[in-house]
Amino acid sequence: MLSAWVAERRGRIVGHIALDAGKTDGSAAVWSDATGLPPERLAAITRLFVSLEGRGTGVGRALLDAACAEAAVRGLHPALDVVETNLDAIRLYERCGWRRVFTEPWRSAQDGKTLLHYYVAPPGETGRPSER
Ligand SMILES: CC(C)(COP(=O)(O)OP(=O)(O)OC[C@H]1O[C@@H](n2cnc3c(N)ncnc32)[C@H](O)[C@@H]1OP(=O)(O)O)[C@@H](O)C(=O)NCCC(=O)NCCS
Repeated sequence: MLSAWVAERRGRIVGHIALDAGKTDGSAAVWSDATGLPPERLAAITRLFVSLEGRGTGVGRALLDAACAEAAVRGLHPALDVVETNLDAIRLYERCGWRRVFTEPWRSAQDGKTLLHYYVAPPGETGRPSER
């Protein structure tokens, strides 16, 4: 792990995100193919979650912004994977311009059907959310 953040509101932790070195992630080969970058130039966005009471107020977006800004400082391109059922997360990533580059069956799925989507941040950008 390169870095991690929590979001705090009125003294309570309401969210979390982490930035991992891309080369240590099993998804690196997919992201590399999609971006043309070697795994050591990638950073994986992981462990993003916001507590139920914290959702829908921009906390997730702020956490993503913080992680992508750190990736940019390190000269790394952000990438991530997300299970197809995490619809709120997929909306957030696509609203921020992230691009779905690959989909495959999720190996940890109990039902053998659930899909895993792979995303990369917009080319030439840090992956930070654009202004609304
Ligand atoms: C995905 C997740 C982190 C998003 O967190 P969040 O804090 O709710 O995200 P945001 O508030 O930035 O955006 C969520 C919605 O609130 C809206 N919003 C943001 N700021 C707002 C504001 N000030 N007023 C009103 N609405 C706002 C956004 O437009 C967005 O709407 P949409 O979903 O209809 O597009 C959260 O839903 C979550 O923890 N999900 C479960 C875990 C998960 O799936 N993690 C990702 C694994 S890859």
